[in-house]
Amino acid sequence: MNAQVIDGKAFAAKVRAQVAEHVGRLKAEHDLTPGLAVVLVGADPASEVYVRSKGKMTVEVGMKSVEHRLEADTSEEDLLAVIKSLNEDPSIHGILVQLPLPKHLNEDLVINSIDPAKDVDGFHISNVGLLGTGQKSMVPCTPLGCLMMLRDHHGSLSGLNAVVVGRSNIVGKPMAQLLLGDSCTVTIAHSRTKDLPDVVRGADIVVAAVGRPEMVLGDWIKPGATVIDVGINRLDAPEKGEGKTRLVGDVHYESAAAVAGAITPVPGGVGPMTIACLLANTLTACCRANELGEPEGLTA
Ligand code: GUN
Repeated sequence: MNAQVIDGKAFAAKVRAQVAEHVGRLKAEHDLTPGLAVVLVGADPASEVYVRSKGKMTVEVGMKSVEHRLEADTSEEDLLAVIKSLNEDPSIHGILVQLPLPKHLNEDLVINSIDPAKDVDGFHISNVGLLGTGQKSMVPCTPLGCLMMLRDHHGSLSGLNAVVVGRSNIVGKPMAQLLLGDSCTVTIAHSRTKDLPDVVRGADIVVAAVGRPEMVLGDWIKPGATVIDVGINRLDAPEKGEGKTRLVGDVHYESAAAVAGAITPVPGGVGPMTIACLLANTLTACCRANELGEPEGLTA
């Protein structure tokens, strides 16, 4: 079998178009523009790239984009003051503090100082608790993107066996909660799981978010299963020339694609969905803040 390739780039463009259309309606009917603020502390090059891309796409869907760039040695007090001012700003509906933060800042304290209603990353402890108890919350962007792709591919996920490989707070745990919410039978596995290949072989849906390049192999995959690869790993690629690298996921793509029913590639799979879902979450936050209807198909 050769798996259907799930095109995350095209899917993300479709989500952004839906967001843009809804934003247009909010402006025309309610004179309302959703606003997203991104706070970047320091100048981590990867974070700079993410933040620039977020800002560009925020404007493209018609939202207000605000960036706060703070020095790497910014004090916790000063960072908390910026977040407080954004919490109190009615033109801002979503706040994202780019992670990782410099070591002298307490990440948990900073994230939990964001108004949970504006926490478009879904990292605030209130949102984690709401998601865990099946209540309306802000949902972390990457797992939300994976859920959207799975719903699109399968229709109903009810009764399917899902194995999430990875137990991070940002992807693995919320992914498992979302799949449970869609009535999957969910296993959270990780790098220490006993007989991991056998556990994965039981899955109709595999979500790989373990952070180890090409760890999940084709002979771990049940024939016809859907494989969602969240990993982004950069490997040396001397065959492409000196100093060259290539991006790979947490799944060994070639062998898995030969067995799976559907698979997301790296790059061009889950990656583009994260920013699309950040924009969807900002729109959702704006609608909730103004007691307007939730955007359909863009929430969990
Ligand atoms: N750094 C890398 N990805 C993310 C993300 O999704 N949210 C935040 N806040 N920081 C990140």
